[in-house]
Amino acid sequence: MKYSFLRVVPGISAIVFLSLFCLPVSGFSQEQRAPKAEWPWMNTNLSPDMRADLVLKEMTLNEKIQLLHGNGMPMFDPLTPTTAMSNRGGGYVIGIPRLRIPAIDMCDAAYGVRGSGENGRYSTALPANVALAASWDTEAALDYGTLIGRELRAQGYNMSLGGGVDITRDPRNGRTFEYLGEDPVLAGTMAARLIAGVQSQHIIGDIKHYAFNDQESGRGSVNVHIDERAARESDLLAFEIGVEQGHPAAVMCAYSRVNGVFSCENNFLLNEVLKRDWKFPGFVVSDWGGTHSLEKASAAGLDQEEGESIFYGERYTAGVQSGSISMSELDGHVHRILRSMFAAGVIDYPQQRSVVDPFAGLKVARTIEEDGIVLLKNDRAALPLDAAKIHTIAVIGAHSDVGMISGGGSAQVDPPAENAFVSSAQAPTPPNVEVWFPTSPLKAIAARAPHAIVKYDSGADPATAAATARGADVAIVFAYEWESEGMDLPNLSLPLHQDDLIAQVAATNPHTIVVLETGSPVTMPWVKAPAAILEVWYAGSDGANAVGNVLFGSVNPSGKLPNTFPKSEADLPHPTLVKPPPESQDFSGPVSPLQRAEGLPPFQVTYDEGVKVGYKWYDAEKKPVLFPFGYGLSYSSYRYSGLSVAPGKTIKATFTVANTGSRAGAEIAEVYVSLPASAQEPPKRLVGWSKVKLNSGEQRTVTVEIDPKYLSIFDVQKDGWTLVPGDYTILVGGSSQDLPLKTVVNLR
Ligand code: BGC
Repeated sequence: MKYSFLRVVPGISAIVFLSLFCLPVSGFSQEQRAPKAEWPWMNTNLSPDMRADLVLKEMTLNEKIQLLHGNGMPMFDPLTPTTAMSNRGGGYVIGIPRLRIPAIDMCDAAYGVRGSGENGRYSTALPANVALAASWDTEAALDYGTLIGRELRAQGYNMSLGGGVDITRDPRNGRTFEYLGEDPVLAGTMAARLIAGVQSQHIIGDIKHYAFNDQESGRGSVNVHIDERAARESDLLAFEIGVEQGHPAAVMCAYSRVNGVFSCENNFLLNEVLKRDWKFPGFVVSDWGGTHSLEKASAAGLDQEEGESIFYGERYTAGVQSGSISMSELDGHVHRILRSMFAAGVIDYPQQRSVVDPFAGLKVARTIEEDGIVLLKNDRAALPLDAAKIHTIAVIGAHSDVGMISGGGSAQVDPPAENAFVSSAQAPTPPNVEVWFPTSPLKAIAARAPHAIVKYDSGADPATAAATARGADVAIVFAYEWESEGMDLPNLSLPLHQDDLIAQVAATNPHTIVVLETGSPVTMPWVKAPAAILEVWYAGSDGANAVGNVLFGSVNPSGKLPNTFPKSEADLPHPTLVKPPPESQDFSGPVSPLQRAEGLPPFQVTYDEGVKVGYKWYDAEKKPVLFPFGYGLSYSSYRYSGLSVAPGKTIKATFTVANTGSRAGAEIAEVYVSLPASAQEPPKRLVGWSKVKLNSGEQRTVTVEIDPKYLSIFDVQKDGWTLVPGDYTILVGGSSQDLPLKTVVNLR
């Protein structure tokens, strides 16, 4: 979580230059890298499992143990002879040059490569993961992952720590921006494509934090209670899809306890669900400091300890020597690590440093942001703005003169050069600080309205801001909420009196546009007042241009909400977030291995809402919401017709979407299903979607295939997914609360 960024490098060209003098990093010369007959595991015709076994046969006990653990965090810790060859990322596992097995050089990379500035390099900040989820665009997810993989590789890493897929059980979770929304099918599908993109660059991809790390408060001491059926159909389903479709080489187990057992020594989660039921062939790596035991963790299926070697170093060796751990159990862990290295291609394609292309990165970041911006309100077609008709614009708030906010914690990507704004207003606890990317909405707006007078007001004083807005042709208020790992939001209100700011500006100027930079849903006591509202999330390296393009209509917004915006916290399944008592907050002073093994005293959180996460909760409880899951407007309009459903091995829903507006656009057509009443499920669940690009007047017939699992329930008695015989109602439309097409199909 420690963070600092590049202070000395004045701009992108200098950063490119810096990247240039980095050297190849595999540690092997070309000659050494070439496959040799005496290294039979270099035969690429063999399967990763066969290759792993061939290496394993040659390994000494010490070499095996070496692969089981990290060596600190080279990013923060002083370099040692062990980590001297590392790339200074979040984790480093020593390689075995004798057998041509490279080191595993890991870096956090949720929305871009972490710590680049600190290392004198540059990386692209993509829009936050939640913005990607809002695009519902699986191709965009592939591009997102591919860019991350490419930049990791260019910087000399071969393993990504990203792929966060914990679903939004509580929107106050400070990592909501790093995850992919509240629905397991949406989140799992997008995560799978993202991981496929990362791994297409011969990088070991991961999925995290397995499982139920759904709040940051007391994440190391919380004990989550949930029944198995609800667990399998909600949070675990997102991981199941991510693992089965994305084939990540690694899974990171979480800090939290689940039903009384730490995730990283939880036999049910690791051995039974992940490895047995989902047939995950890769390795499980602990979250940093999330390992709590030796024999128990090893037997439960934890393959690798990060970032230290408290249990999986000398103690593991002693365990094998004393017989408390069998050699075959050790070999099982080593096999999984090696086979994943072969499968991801890090052995056949050793990483090689190259220059990160900032301009290519900006383009990908901007395009994905444009794809994920959600238009929440647009009265009297207030948007898009027509530059030819606008003479004065007031731009207000959220440091929109200089930059846009980004998400913090281990996901943090460094901005080029300086933080665009250094905030003291919210006084976050060091080393976690708000980081503002130097992408200026004010400049982007001025560039698109070259003949208008564009005034800026910081918004610090709502009355002054309202005076600035008075009489302007349009007032654009930027409002933000910063989120980070290691903390949760106190509530869902915009902080820093921004509700008051928006209310006062909108009361003065009827043509007020609100632009929200948030990771989580926020409440909007002022929702009726402004003419238009855009949710732009954490917008990434080129966010201002993406927002400018949507405001002025060169891009037609097409994102839809991956999280419900409730009317108030009182409507959440748990109106009050359970916080750890003082004794469960932190260890005081140095922590002995024994204390680590025991962990902090647990505190209890019961997910008695079960499978009813997000819209499933509001639907079931009949609670009206501010903006529903799957909702988002366009500058165009769409009409749905002609639903037919063909049962077969997979159910196929076929229907027609027409663009009835005057602009080209993209409509996310969503397919939900209501299960038979006997299934005792929430009123409906998302089972598929298609993002359809349509010119004005164009219509297209689309078919969405529905995976039978998404129609099933998890039957704990039968220990598997089961289709409940009966009538299934298939619903199709543009939001979870606007589903004009409906048909019933009987399945048995
Ligand atoms: C976070 C992980 C991260 C790891 C390494 C942990 O605190 O929970 O998401 O990958 O640190 O930085």
